[in-house]
Amino acid sequence: MIAIGCDHAGVEMKKAIIEALSEKGYEFEDLGTDGEPCDYPVIAEAVCGCVTSGKCEKGILVCGTGIGMSMAANKINGIRAALCSDSFSARFTRLHNDANVMCLGARTLGPGLACELAEIFVSTGFEGGRHQRRIDLITALEEKNR
Ligand code: RB5
Repeated sequence: MIAIGCDHAGVEMKKAIIEALSEKGYEFEDLGTDGEPCDYPVIAEAVCGCVTSGKCEKGILVCGTGIGMSMAANKINGIRAALCSDSFSARFTRLHNDANVMCLGARTLGPGLACELAEIFVSTGFEGGRHQRRIDLITALEEKNR
């Protein structure tokens, strides 16, 4: 299950991602907004909560630039959110960073690219090995800064 959410700027892109990836068998928990103007940190918290609770394996967040969503998501312990606009980053943030949330900009990306990046994100595994040590160091930073 993939948690997904957007603010008012990302509604159409979120719909496009749900439609494209549902056709490939992915299931979504849609945390809004359906179109009402809203504040992106509220949606980021809802989506990230689904990930940290284990209800959803990953999350996708869409706002105008993806920047506000990524800032908010990365304040939440246990979340490693990656703002992506190219396929190399989408792939390697899974392989090396074990990113569990992807953020996308609806005003900076076309829907075709956004759907492709989302598919790479949900279908790529974490490499582990030496990268796990670095993830553990990120987790240690959370502990130090609680
Ligand atoms: C909303 O107008 C806009 O500020 C928001 O979608 C996002 O781009 C913030 O980072």
